[in-house]
Amino acid sequence: MSLRSGYHVALAARDLGHDVTEVDVDANLTRTLTSADLVFIALHGRDGEDGTLQLACEALDVAYTGSTPLACRMCFDKGLAKGLMLKAGFPTPPAYVIPAEAVRHMGAGAALRNAAKRLGFPMVVKPTTQGSALGLALVEDPEELTAAALAAFDHGDRLLLERFVPGTEVSIAVYGSKLTALPAVEIKTKSQVFDFETRVSPGAYEFDRASSDIDAAVGQLAVDVATQMGVRDFGRVDMRVSDDGPTVLDVKTCPGLTETSIVTYATANASLRFDDFVATVLDNALARIRQ
Ligand SMILES: Nc1ncnc2c1ncn2[C@@H]1O[C@H](COP(=O)(O)OP(=O)(O)O)[C@@H](O)[C@H]1O
Ligand SMILES: [Mg+2]
Repeated sequence: MSLRSGYHVALAARDLGHDVTEVDVDANLTRTLTSADLVFIALHGRDGEDGTLQLACEALDVAYTGSTPLACRMCFDKGLAKGLMLKAGFPTPPAYVIPAEAVRHMGAGAALRNAAKRLGFPMVVKPTTQGSALGLALVEDPEELTAAALAAFDHGDRLLLERFVPGTEVSIAVYGSKLTALPAVEIKTKSQVFDFETRVSPGAYEFDRASSDIDAAVGQLAVDVATQMGVRDFGRVDMRVSDDGPTVLDVKTCPGLTETSIVTYATANASLRFDDFVATVLDNALARIRQ
């Protein structure tokens, strides 16, 4: 997806009159980056979202778009993000972080089962540091817990055991020097969760513009959460809206920007040209260079 995001952003940047070179991660990446006036980071997954590439840019003194290494780290680690959101008073489902180390070497298998009992079924088990719903499972029965935990540990050394939230799934893109929300996008799936299988199966999901009631309930919350978490230039906040109101699942500092991504869909709903969205992000980053 990173390559397709990069391609889409490059098209827009060229439309805007910039001289653009598209680069993928390789052993020469940092050397290539040092020759650029500005790097648009459209790299998803660990190195693009956990702050790795951003740290390299900081150390190289290369200007880049998007959030700082610290903000990337805080959002990418779902356990850390949850702690910070709770501390700031934002709604997010109750959860426990379980480290693989504690299960393997401290006999914490019982802690896992106890945490599950306290949360109640169904629940979602997911690695704390992974995206695209990899290693994520909806667990409806205590007997499925161990297998789900082992699968999550395949993707990282900690897992999040999180209470399942029913309701409408929405995702809100935010952008700008002072973040503003684009119209909320509802994600309609046949499955109960927007899992990996669903994401890669054509026709298994569709986007829709969220109702005006939902949009009104989540826009400002998305801006507040993203601002609190340090999102810069652009980002995306994933939520579920149930009878109890909205609750935040996930904050993305480097969301997908392909032709078919949520952010792109949201720009269209706002009658904002994707070129203009990219122009705003670039202008913000360029303004930081001049400061
Ligand atoms: N607590 C939860 N309740 C209901 N669904 C969830 C929960 N956590 C995750 N999901 C489902 O799994 C998907 C992916 O989880 P998320 O936390 O957003 O991680 P990521 O987007 O990084 O894979 C969500 O879009 C949602 O459909
Ligand atoms: Mg998500």
